[in-house]
Amino acid sequence: MSNEFLLVDTHTHLYEESFDVDREQVLKRCVDARVRKLIIQNVDSTTIEGVLKLEREHPGLCYATMGLHPCYVKENWKEEWAIVEKWWSERDFVAVGEAGLDYYWDKTFIAEQKEVFGLQLRLAKQKGVPIIIHSRDSFYDCLEMVKAEQDGSLKGIFHCFSGSLEEAQAAIKAGMKLGIGGTCTYKNSRHKEVLPKLGLEHVVLETDSPYLPPVPHRGKRNESAYVPLVAEAVADIFETSVLEVARITTANARELFGGLV
Ligand code: NI
Repeated sequence: MSNEFLLVDTHTHLYEESFDVDREQVLKRCVDARVRKLIIQNVDSTTIEGVLKLEREHPGLCYATMGLHPCYVKENWKEEWAIVEKWWSERDFVAVGEAGLDYYWDKTFIAEQKEVFGLQLRLAKQKGVPIIIHSRDSFYDCLEMVKAEQDGSLKGIFHCFSGSLEEAQAAIKAGMKLGIGGTCTYKNSRHKEVLPKLGLEHVVLETDSPYLPPVPHRGKRNESAYVPLVAEAVADIFETSVLEVARITTANARELFGGLV
């Protein structure tokens, strides 16, 4: 096998303010670390400009998603959703997201979150792109909605997956991949027991930067250049090489995102 490999960060919020001071250096470090494709996750109408700017200024490196994050489904969700729909009517994006259900921060709008997640699942199918799923204290509700829409054409990622073996198997059976990030390097993570029972073909790598940095950067800002640390941890978990992890997870990402990355 060639030692030429590249890695994909399938989930980053690089437009966030914490990167304003050094965004170009962050991108340089990530390219130097062989992380050559970044999926920039939108969250709501306030982040669209930042997402599109990254894509415009770094073609072939940054790819935009379009969707509405469950934590931003509030009283005004219909206006927010109309903006997402309008963008999708005007151009394509590599995925619908960040979507899903979050019962951890606020349970006020659970019904609305479900309605919007359903709309996003159907949009992903209609557009033939993956759905990026954020599930927090809501795994089985997300899974049920995925299963209800699964007609063989729906694909996607349970992002920042850190669940049980049972949950992982159910997600895979429903046609989803598992997005694995910095949390797999944490001492008490379940990944060590869960992942080897599944197989690398179900895994894609991510950072969720600036959040959830891997060891030894805990407590600091995360960035895409740390994907190799995640790849190393995943290689340890699977008792294989980083090259093999890079090869398979990058192929998984490429397949998922329609060869675009
Ligand atoms: Ni995210």
